[in-house]
Amino acid sequence: MEKYLAPSLLSANFYNLENDLAALKDENVKYLHLDVMDGMFVPNISLGVPVIESIKKNTRDDYILDTHLMVERPERYITNFKEAGADILTIHQEATKDYCEVLTIIKDQGMKAGISVNPETDIKKIDDCLSIADLVLVMSVHPGFGGQKFIDGSLDKVKYLQDVRIKNGYKYMIEIDGGITIKNVKSVCEAGVDIVVAGSAVFKNDIRKNVKDFNNIIKSF
Ligand code: DX5
Ligand code: ZN
Repeated sequence: MEKYLAPSLLSANFYNLENDLAALKDENVKYLHLDVMDGMFVPNISLGVPVIESIKKNTRDDYILDTHLMVERPERYITNFKEAGADILTIHQEATKDYCEVLTIIKDQGMKAGISVNPETDIKKIDDCLSIADLVLVMSVHPGFGGQKFIDGSLDKVKYLQDVRIKNGYKYMIEIDGGITIKNVKSVCEAGVDIVVAGSAVFKNDIRKNVKDFNNIIKSF
């Protein structure tokens, strides 16, 4: 499976998103990671439906909009994000009771369905929905803020997901999010990650150079 970088717009320049998105396009970035925070599931509030809608309208099919909902009871907003143009909708296991059913609803609406787990959540908790998930997102920091340090031990979850996928012939992509830098990206790729999210490491200083440096490693797998 080809591996991809998914820049997290949380660290982009919101005053001039067009400029930052143009830089990503120049470097053939395919996935855009969009962090939606509700101030309840996580202590922070970020972007929401209107921003995603505007990005989709203006970039059309340039990017796959990989939407990460850090939101309590995300089932309330599935249609809103579909209409805004989300391509992948990832919910948290901790955020709702019937998360397997919510994945099915997301798929029924024509989006790819992702399930995410916080650092303190046992990865085995989501065993019951791995057969239907299109994507599994391992949080390698406590969700809510960019620029935190990678939590060691997150790679064990990636390796587990990789084993289970091979053993059962499951099709989900494995994504990792939080604290990824040019120094640790090789080890997450080796563990089995397909989509590497990076925020601060992409948007600080020279975006084009950062993406090139990441892709030199990610695309070598
Ligand atoms: C954190 C978000 C991340 C964040 C990653 O809750 O889910 O996507 O933007 O930022 P970095 O790469 O700076 O850790
Ligand atoms: Zn995220």
